[in-house]
Amino acid sequence: MIKKAILPVAGLGTRFLPASKSIPKEMVTVVDRPAIEYVVREAVAAGIEQIILVTHSSKASIENYFDRNFELETTLEQKQKWDLLKEITEILPPQVSVVSVRQPQPLGLGHAVLCAKDIVGDEAFAVLLPDVLVKDQAEKNDLALMIERFNSTQAAQIMVEAVPEHLVDQYGIVDVAAAPAEGQSAAMQGIVEKPAVGTAPSNLSVIGRYVLPAKIMQLLATTPKGAGNEIQLTDAIAALQQLETVEAYRMKGQTFDCGSKLGYLKAVLHYGVDHPSLGEAFKQLIQELKD
Ligand code: G1P
Repeated sequence: MIKKAILPVAGLGTRFLPASKSIPKEMVTVVDRPAIEYVVREAVAAGIEQIILVTHSSKASIENYFDRNFELETTLEQKQKWDLLKEITEILPPQVSVVSVRQPQPLGLGHAVLCAKDIVGDEAFAVLLPDVLVKDQAEKNDLALMIERFNSTQAAQIMVEAVPEHLVDQYGIVDVAAAPAEGQSAAMQGIVEKPAVGTAPSNLSVIGRYVLPAKIMQLLATTPKGAGNEIQLTDAIAALQQLETVEAYRMKGQTFDCGSKLGYLKAVLHYGVDHPSLGEAFKQLIQELKD
């Protein structure tokens, strides 16, 4: 069973400046809650029970958000604001805990994942990169389907989606004999971090959701610096794929890259129109803008 998920949140969010100058980019609001809450909800919906934040000293507000706030709760109780009290005390279901570990130096995504080695122990785990929001319409989300597939095959699962050819140099790109259908997995023949346009093995990009066996930690420990002079998770996955089957899982949902300003605005639009209480009024606002 996969119960642990690593969320690397130590990055300083330079793509999102100035918004991320004094608050973590993960705490920037999408409609009415911080972006990171959507990612945590996605993990919880897939059965995750321990969220492992790999974090930085400047990002305590993320841990605070998932902690209880006694003073605020008492004030809301005294004011009998029961709806708000429920909202802030039910951010996490009771079975879910959040722990954190520091990434002492910005040595790359692979290094960030390795920082959680002792917390993960010998269990397989998920990794969710919080820059990307994944919006799933189906009852079972993509991560849940990846976990199911891992449970039945023991093959690592790497979530991918097709990107335009001119954008391949911004992502990890997988090599597969034939692209799997949406919701399906296919064995990978390779994976490469940010290949130059024109040299990529496919247009299937790694979007930041992984289900990995514990042994990836040993591989990460000996992975040399790669693209961008950083220790890359992609390179450790390539090493794993030399030892055993690793599969690319083609997602069904929609992604929003909240690390980019336009991707963030798109996320606000999509999550806004689907919001249970604000959605209808928000749609009207958009209509007014069009007219
Ligand atoms: C990371 C990964 C890359 C992946 C991307 C998804 O890159 O290294 O393989 O495609 O996330 O967002 P980053 O965006 O941190 O440079």
